[in-house]
Amino acid sequence: MTATRPPESRQKRLKEGGLISRRDYLRMLVIASGGLLAATAGLASGVFRRHGAESGTVKRVAASIDRNQMLTFSYPGDDDPAIAMRLDDGELVAFSSVCTHLSCAVLWRREEQVLECPCHKGFFSERSGAVLAGPPPRPLPRIRLEERPDGIYAAGPEVKRSRAINGKLAERPREQHRYRNET
Ligand code: FES
Repeated sequence: MTATRPPESRQKRLKEGGLISRRDYLRMLVIASGGLLAATAGLASGVFRRHGAESGTVKRVAASIDRNQMLTFSYPGDDDPAIAMRLDDGELVAFSSVCTHLSCAVLWRREEQVLECPCHKGFFSERSGAVLAGPPPRPLPRIRLEERPDGIYAAGPEVKRSRAINGKLAERPREQHRYRNET
């Protein structure tokens, strides 16, 4: 098969830039595809890096926390407020401090042994984060803490405590507590 030269008028238009050649068109297509591919790869790696980091981030949050003391920190990102508490029996717990209703900040009511959301009177268990009363639809996400020789570290989300019923995951039953919703 022999390549045919474009007619003279077309050659002239090509020289003047009025018409692009097939080669130029293919070159532009390759460049555009490459750019699109690079952008997609960059976006995907950024997203995966972020998700991977969030699920596996290990972050030192304190040197220590005394019994009946608490501290606030950010985890996994700087815009993710969290609260860590050493309960009166010595257990160390941490949760996201963002209410699962409309995202107000929860407060620890140590004497009441609950986390309270003052916005709409939502109450959560200080031990498990389970909803005890009020409108929050879900427990507070729990953060796994590790006590190491040099401090306390947040080490990822706590594995959800749920159980399978007929192959489906079900939430744990709400804890018995005096704040429990009357239904
Ligand atoms: S925002 Fe927490 S109960 Fe409404």
